[in-house]
Amino acid sequence: MENEVCVVITHGDVFFDIDEVDGQFSMFDRSFAGSVVLPLSKRINENIQGEVTVNGIEIDRVWFHTFTQHNNRQFMGLPVRRIMTEYGKSYKVRIEGFIDMNGVMMEPQELTVTTLPRKEPVPGYEAHDLIALEAAREGIVLLKNKDSILPLKKDEVLNIFGKGQFEFRTGAVGAGKINPRYQITLMQAIKEHSEFTVNPEVKALYIQGEEAVPERPSLEEACRKSKIALIVISRASGENLDNSAIKGEYYLSAEEDAMIREVSETFEQTIAIVNSGYPIDMTWAEKYNIKAVINCGFAGMLGGLALVEILDGRVNPSAKLPDTWSYDYYDHPASKNFYDTAEGKPKLDSSSTYFVDTYYEEGIYVGYRYFETFRKEVAYPFGFGLSYTTFGICITDFTHGAEGTILKLQIKNTGKTAGKEVVQVYSEEPDGKLEKSSRKLIAFAKTETLQSGELQEIDLHIPIERYASYDSDTASWLMEPGTYILWVGTSVKHLEEAGSFKLAESLTIQKVVNRMVPPVPIRTLSKLDPEGTYPRGELSGLKLEATELAPKARRQKNQEQWHVSEKIPNKLVKFTDVMERPELLDSFVKQLSIEELARLSVCGSSGWGMHEKGEAGRVYLLNQYDMKPFVVADGNSGVNLRKPNIGMPSSTVVCSSWNTKLSYEVARVIAEEAKENDVHMILAPGMNIHRNPLNGRHPEYFSEDPYLTGMMAGYFSKGLEDNGVSSCLKHVIANNCETARNRNHSLMTERTLREIYMKAFEVAMEVHQPDSIMTGYNAVNGVFAAADEEMIQGVFREELGFSGYVMTDWGSYETVDIVEAVQAGNCWLTPGTNDDTYVLPIVNGVKEGKIDQARLEKNVWYLLKIVLKRA
Ligand code: BGC
Repeated sequence: MENEVCVVITHGDVFFDIDEVDGQFSMFDRSFAGSVVLPLSKRINENIQGEVTVNGIEIDRVWFHTFTQHNNRQFMGLPVRRIMTEYGKSYKVRIEGFIDMNGVMMEPQELTVTTLPRKEPVPGYEAHDLIALEAAREGIVLLKNKDSILPLKKDEVLNIFGKGQFEFRTGAVGAGKINPRYQITLMQAIKEHSEFTVNPEVKALYIQGEEAVPERPSLEEACRKSKIALIVISRASGENLDNSAIKGEYYLSAEEDAMIREVSETFEQTIAIVNSGYPIDMTWAEKYNIKAVINCGFAGMLGGLALVEILDGRVNPSAKLPDTWSYDYYDHPASKNFYDTAEGKPKLDSSSTYFVDTYYEEGIYVGYRYFETFRKEVAYPFGFGLSYTTFGICITDFTHGAEGTILKLQIKNTGKTAGKEVVQVYSEEPDGKLEKSSRKLIAFAKTETLQSGELQEIDLHIPIERYASYDSDTASWLMEPGTYILWVGTSVKHLEEAGSFKLAESLTIQKVVNRMVPPVPIRTLSKLDPEGTYPRGELSGLKLEATELAPKARRQKNQEQWHVSEKIPNKLVKFTDVMERPELLDSFVKQLSIEELARLSVCGSSGWGMHEKGEAGRVYLLNQYDMKPFVVADGNSGVNLRKPNIGMPSSTVVCSSWNTKLSYEVARVIAEEAKENDVHMILAPGMNIHRNPLNGRHPEYFSEDPYLTGMMAGYFSKGLEDNGVSSCLKHVIANNCETARNRNHSLMTERTLREIYMKAFEVAMEVHQPDSIMTGYNAVNGVFAAADEEMIQGVFREELGFSGYVMTDWGSYETVDIVEAVQAGNCWLTPGTNDDTYVLPIVNGVKEGKIDQARLEKNVWYLLKIVLKRA
């Protein structure tokens, strides 16, 4: 081995997918975007750049990354996107001049890389593809439209600036990735699905994948061809790595800034397209002469088409932001307690072994709750989005009673173009013992398409519980006395008073018990002393010396009794028997040995996902019982398998539609495609709260608001399950960043936990009770979520009535004690193995009295109940 020469390992033919902007490996290292990534047989010296050519053209820089996820193997990334631009073509790659760690030079190596053919629509799926298109049409947000410059004339000539035109992203990286049958990017949509033409000279400036800043004369030349400039800014985002408040990520890079300045100074009509997975700095849209801004996010396989339809007016935008876009990242109080590499710290991904504490000192003041209460100006407010028409809202009735409030509204299209509007209702609640945010979303609805002059009546029933706040002293949800004002409008900033009611005395809505209380007091932001209580972040951050969670906490026991007779059946009960007679499930479980129970508690994958058809996991099949397969796959936006299928917009974009029916439809289509691929459960919706814009998984989640998140996710979950596929609400709970995600510790008051983070799940479960939930990698208030009995048994099962099964996130057992997780009620350890690695600790746990057999049986019972449902 020592003397062997390092080679690039290729397992058969090497392919490159032009349509994948980021590719599989950029989940681990963003520098691998647009690259062919190849493993090396031996470590080579990263400081010595050799030479790589593609069809004789030199590649400027080769990237390296050593993957702990691949047995510490070093990989080489060849950025080929600018050269491999043609579909279905073979390119000759020559690699030479690299030197291994022993100083031995590689033999020059040649290989052929073939680009995949262009993917075309597959007949028979038109109706599904149309839902992906509809979701993009309703999810792309128009943020600015000065002088109504949009929509453009249909046959306009466009000068398109920014490398984002060649890096147009349609999906996230990691678990939220899509593998669409085909896609239509912005440039393809312009060329093939519109009457626009593109100025080829401007386009040519970006073909190299660099952020070119054009010279004034060439800009003026372009301006003579057309007065319209389109700027495309794109940002990757996804699982495993958080984004950072640095130039090129949250902020514009110096080149982008210079390009936008130059372009907007030359062109009277500059339109910016933001193709980012998370909110970014937008101050440049005011600083420079930008007339229109469109936030298209990751809009799925037909995102480019929907965007062009909005540009030329075939579609009237109707989306609203599910998040506040602040003026600056640091305006978010949560920025004080978020590990960010902007301060020169190293990027930490899931392989990091450091512990990181995250104190939620902002308390309930997340997103607009902060910006509204503390009257801080923002770039674009929560709930905001423009249309090509105008609407009038008329309040026709306001009645409040013991059950809640009934609000009757008429929404009229007062403009000239057909369109849809979203009405939003916020409460303003009296301060008492508990201080309140000045606005809280309590209801919303989206109209149908209204023609010019057309009117729609909408009745909103707001249940009394929506007004409740959580008092941890009395462990109760209550309404405090005083005046409650309801505000109605089209964003948190565009509201009119709809009515009010008075409450004379405090009203307890629900009594619970204290759960998941923090192990240390948490100082939280208060409007009574904004400066004195503003988050400081002193306690958060990397715990270099820590080898376990600190501060740690203990949880109360939540034992529920095994509810069937202890009788073991006298003849073997097969799974197929239970399929016919579901009441035999108890007997089926009762007959299992401890080893068998333990075996079923471990997912039967042979490693980290992507096996067989590419699923994330499958239930272990015990031989003698004729069990039926149960396969789970990721799927916020499509079925995450090797076989191409539907590619929906990311969850944030779907959420921007504020259309619960559409969220249901998106999930229905995913379910139908999952079934075709023999997938029984989709590991979605992902519903962590957008606490901080830099969370890498921002696009996979819905909103900063728990009610909006809960409603959209609840309908998504229902859409899957009504159509024959199980859903999985994830990741419980407060899994709000990717940095050191297996050791990130969220610390917050019980009120914050319940009103913001748990609320989203509570609302979703009011809409629909899901078949499963997934615990987060993180810890909350001193206990790993995967082993939190109070959360699993107490909050979810007792309070929220959850009766599906609980699974860990993939590989949680690397940090979480298996015995504690099972005893806490976690039913399925993932991804598992087919040997005894994770089974033995469970068996021993029972033998040593650390796991109650009754709990283990019940865990398996919950799991099998769902497996049976889909068998
Ligand atoms: C992600 C989960 C996903 C799982 C299975 C994990 O890395 O955090 O969201 O469902 O992998 O792929």
